[in-house]
Amino acid sequence: MDTNPGVAETLPAVILAIESSCDDTAAAVCSAGNILSNVIASQKVHEQYGGVVPELAGRAHIQHVVPVVDAALKNAGVTLADLDAVAFTQAPGLIGSLLVGSQFAKSLTLSLGKPLIAVHHMQAHVLANLIGTEKPGFPFLCLTVSGGHTQIVVCESPYSLKVIGETIDDAAGEAFDKSAKLLGLPYPGGPLIDKYAQSGDPKKYSFPEPNIPGLNFSFSGLKTSILYFVQEQTRKNEQFIAANLVDICASIQERIVSILINKLTRAAQQTGIKDVCIAGGVSANSGLRKRLQEVGQRQDWKTFIPRFEYCTDNAAMIAITAYYKYLRNDFAPMDVSATARAEWEQ
Ligand code: KG4
Ligand code: ZN
Repeated sequence: MDTNPGVAETLPAVILAIESSCDDTAAAVCSAGNILSNVIASQKVHEQYGGVVPELAGRAHIQHVVPVVDAALKNAGVTLADLDAVAFTQAPGLIGSLLVGSQFAKSLTLSLGKPLIAVHHMQAHVLANLIGTEKPGFPFLCLTVSGGHTQIVVCESPYSLKVIGETIDDAAGEAFDKSAKLLGLPYPGGPLIDKYAQSGDPKKYSFPEPNIPGLNFSFSGLKTSILYFVQEQTRKNEQFIAANLVDICASIQERIVSILINKLTRAAQQTGIKDVCIAGGVSANSGLRKRLQEVGQRQDWKTFIPRFEYCTDNAAMIAITAYYKYLRNDFAPMDVSATARAEWEQ
C-alpha cells in the first residue's frame, strides 16, 4: 500500500499555523512535517453561559493571538525570519473568531513576504492522524467527531477526502454536551460525562439506538429520550440525578459510542478499508478510544487515534495540513476570506 500517494517529496519547510475557529486560540510550528510546538489558550469565559458566546470568543482571540504565536515560536526555537509560510484556519467556524486568525496570518505574511496557506478545519482534524511516525496507510477511514460535526471520511491521500456518512441533526459532541446540560453539568459537558462514566455501570439504563439508514447518524432522538427519562425519574425521586450520576453518564456514553462504532464498522465492511482512525474533540473520549481498539482487534483493523492534544481543536493539525499544501505550492491569495461554512471534499 502506498503510504504517501500524491506527495511530491519532503521539504524542510518551517510553517507557523494559527487556529481560531471557535473558542480556543492555538498556534503551532512544524518543520518538514514534524511538529515542533503546539500552544493553546482556552477561553474560560463561556462556562458561565453554558455554551460559546461568539462575540466574547472573537474578543478573547484578539487578546490571546499575539502571546500564543509568540510562545509557539519560542517553544519551537525559531524566529519569524525562519518561517517559510504562515497558515490559518479558513473555515468552518464562528466568523468573528476565524477573522482574527485569518487577518493575523495575512498581516504576518505581508510583512514577511512569505506565502499564505488557507486550511479547512475538518480536513485538518482528519490529517491529525498523519502527525508522528505511526501513520495510517492510504486509503484510510476516519470517524471525525467534534462539537459541530460527525462524519465518516474516506481519505485516499492528503489531497483526496470523501465524506461517506454524516449526521442529519446534532453532532456527537453536541449529544454529549446537551445530555450533560440535562444533568445540570457545566459546559462543555463531554469531558465530564467521560469522567463520571469511568466509575459507572454502562448497562444500568438503556437508551434507544436510532434507526437511520446507510452511514448517516442522528442524535436528536437520543437527546429527547434522555430528557424524558430524567424528567420522569426526577418526578419520582428529586435526588435521582445526584444519586445515580455515574451510572447515567456511563449509560449515555455507552449509547453514543455504540452508535458511532456501529456505523464505522458498517463503513469498514462496505469499503473493505482496514486502516481506521478517529479524530475531533470527541475522539478524546476514553470509552470511544477503548471501544475502537476492542472492535479493531475483532475486525482485524489497524486503528489510529491522534495523541490527546491533537484530538480537540489545536493548531498542530492545521500545521500538518498546511505542510501537505506547501508541498504542492497550494498557496492562498491575499484576498482569501474566512468563511463560516465551506465545502471541503476534494
Ligand atoms: O473538535 P473540538 O475540540 O471542537 C470542535 O471543532 O467542535 O470538539 C469539541 C467537542 C465538545 O462537544 C466536547 O464536549 C467534546 O468535543 N469532547 C468530549 C471529550 N473531550 C471533548 N466529548 C466526550 N468525551 C471527552 N473526553
Ligand atoms: Zn474542531
